Amino acid sequence: MRTLLEGVGAYLPERIVSNDELAARIDTSDAWIRERTGIAQRHIAGPHETATFMGAEAAKRALAAAGAKAGAVDAIIVATSTPDQGFPATAVNIQSALAVTQGFAFDISAACSGFVYALSVADGMIRAGQCRNVLVIGTEVYSRILNWQDRGTCVLFGDGAGAVFLRASGQGESRGVISTHLHADGRYGDILYIDGATGQTGKSQHLVMNGREVFRHAVAKLAAAVDEALEANNLSHADIDWLVPHQANRRIIDAMGKRLNLRPDQVVMTVERHANTSAASIPLALAEAVQDGRIKPGHLVLLEALGGGLTWGSALIRL
Ligand code: COA
Repeated sequence: MRTLLEGVGAYLPERIVSNDELAARIDTSDAWIRERTGIAQRHIAGPHETATFMGAEAAKRALAAAGAKAGAVDAIIVATSTPDQGFPATAVNIQSALAVTQGFAFDISAACSGFVYALSVADGMIRAGQCRNVLVIGTEVYSRILNWQDRGTCVLFGDGAGAVFLRASGQGESRGVISTHLHADGRYGDILYIDGATGQTGKSQHLVMNGREVFRHAVAKLAAAVDEALEANNLSHADIDWLVPHQANRRIIDAMGKRLNLRPDQVVMTVERHANTSAASIPLALAEAVQDGRIKPGHLVLLEALGGGLTWGSALIRL
C-alpha cells in the first residue's frame, strides 16, 4: 500500500514586511539580508492569524484541491513549534475549526524538520492501517517568539501554513510516498532553541540561534540525508524532477541543488518571499509549485529539512 498525496494547500498572512521596513527599526540593511540569506520580505501574522486559523485555512485548501470533504478525514497531524496553547494540541483545535468530529489529532514538535517528521508518521500510520485519509499540516507564527531587537535572528523568519491531504492507495500503486528518512542529535540542542516553555519563569521565550554552527551542520547533514533517500531506492540524481527543500537560506538551498546536479529551475525556492516559516516552509513551497503547474502528476520530488534539536530528514514522493 502507498500513501498518495492528493491535495496541497497554503495560507500566508496578509501583512508583508520588507527588509527595508526592518532596517528602519533595527541596525540591518536590505543588502545584508539579501546577500546572506536570499530573503527580501516575509509575511507576518495579524492578531486573528493564529497557528490554528492559518493551519485550518491551509487544510481547507488542501481538501478542496483533492476534491475531498472534511467528513472523510480520520487523522490530523500538525507540525508546529509555535502552538496557540500548551494544550489542546493545535491539531485538535484545527479539527474543531474544520468541524471534523471523527478520528484523532495530535501535534509533532521537530522545529523546522516538523513537516518531514509529520509526513513520515502519517505514512507509517497509513501503511499500518490505522487511518486512511490524513491531513498533515505545518503552521507557524515565529513572529511571536522572535526577539525583534536581535538582528541575527529576527530578519530570518516569517509566518504561514501549508497542508497536504494524504490518502491510502489500493494495491500496485507506484505513486505516493516512497520513503522517509528521519534523524536527530540532541547534543546540538543549544545551537538553535526556544528559551523556555509554558509556565517557566525567568526565561525570554525567544528563539536563540548560533547561525554559523547551524549553517555548518545544515550543509553536511542535509547532503547526507538526500544521498540516503536516493541510495535507499537505488535512484540517481538524474531521476529527481524536483527538490522542494526547507526554506531557511538561499545559500544552503543552492548547495543542495548543486550537490544533486539539478538545474536551478528544478529547485523550488520561496525563501525570497516567505523567509523561513519553519515547519510550514515545505508545504508552502510544494503548494506553490503544484498550483502553478511546475510539479505535475508523476514527477519525483525530494524533500529535505533541518531544524532545532538538531532534527533533520528527507522524503521521496512521486506525485
Ligand atoms: N544585519 C546586519 N548585520 C548582521 C545581521 C543583520 N541582520 N545579523 C548579523 N549581522 C552581523 C553580525 O553582527 C556580524 O558582525 P561582526 O562581524 O561585526 O560581529 C556579521 O554580521 C557576521 O555575522 P555572522 O552571524 O557570522 O554572519 P553569517 O555570515 O554566519 O550569516 C546567518 C548569518 C544567520 C545568515 C547565517 O549564519 C545562516 O544563514 N545560518 C543558518 C541559519 C539557519 O538556516 N537557521 C535556521 C535553520 S532551520
